[in-house]
Amino acid sequence: MSRLPLLAGNWKMNLNHVEATGVVQKLAWTMSDYRHDKTKAEAAVIVPFTDLRTVQNLIEGDKLSISFGAQDVSVHESGAYTGEVAASMLAKLNCRYVVVGHSERREYHGETDELINAKAKQVIANQMTPIICVGERLEIRKEGSHVPYVLAQIDGVLAGLTPAQVGALVIAYEPVWAIGTGEVATPEDAQEVCGAIRYRVQELFGAEAADKVRIQYGGSVKSSNIIDIMAQPDVDGALVGGASLDPVEFARIVTYYTR
Ligand code: PGA
Repeated sequence: MSRLPLLAGNWKMNLNHVEATGVVQKLAWTMSDYRHDKTKAEAAVIVPFTDLRTVQNLIEGDKLSISFGAQDVSVHESGAYTGEVAASMLAKLNCRYVVVGHSERREYHGETDELINAKAKQVIANQMTPIICVGERLEIRKEGSHVPYVLAQIDGVLAGLTPAQVGALVIAYEPVWAIGTGEVATPEDAQEVCGAIRYRVQELFGAEAADKVRIQYGGSVKSSNIIDIMAQPDVDGALVGGASLDPVEFARIVTYYTR
């Protein structure tokens, strides 16, 4: 089974729509300078809502080999939910991906596995692919209970999905203590949890779903550590925060397989 690695840049609350144009253009040029081959890896930018229309026009107009998506979505379909953005609105902008359950949303907005599961279902119902985030905080890691902790999150966020739906989605394992801290999990740490997640998917949804589901690592990924992370058998890509704001650095991450 060959899973196409997904290198997704999560811009978080950075870069307005004017800045986004320059960054995506430079990313595309640099990826082609580095001889990016879209059959070897997929690049995506996960941008603020206000950037989506601009990024869509640029990527579709110039036929760039870059996927794009959003960082969150409403759990509701439509209606009186001031400030929320519906999955159908993101689908209308041709988003391929929607990140759900990022640790910053869990921490600052009290998002639970149950809510994240409902958001993922909205994304799937609108023919987009959720990137569902899981990961433990530092105290859980120190206790040594990170594997069962993350697997309990997996049980919650995937509840009620079909094996075909699970096989088509993306799971991002992001240890919270490694996000934006410069503290990277070792490649072995990443493999331990990503391998356990795949095994859990197999137990719950069968071998085909486990073989197909793409599992990313996230947390202080850079061009200097991506090669060792990607060498792990159960790591199928990365969710990259800070380093994705620099298009040259992100292009190096996306084209890791050329070095
Ligand atoms: P980081 O963020 O790469 O800046 O650590 C990763 C993430 O939050 O997705």
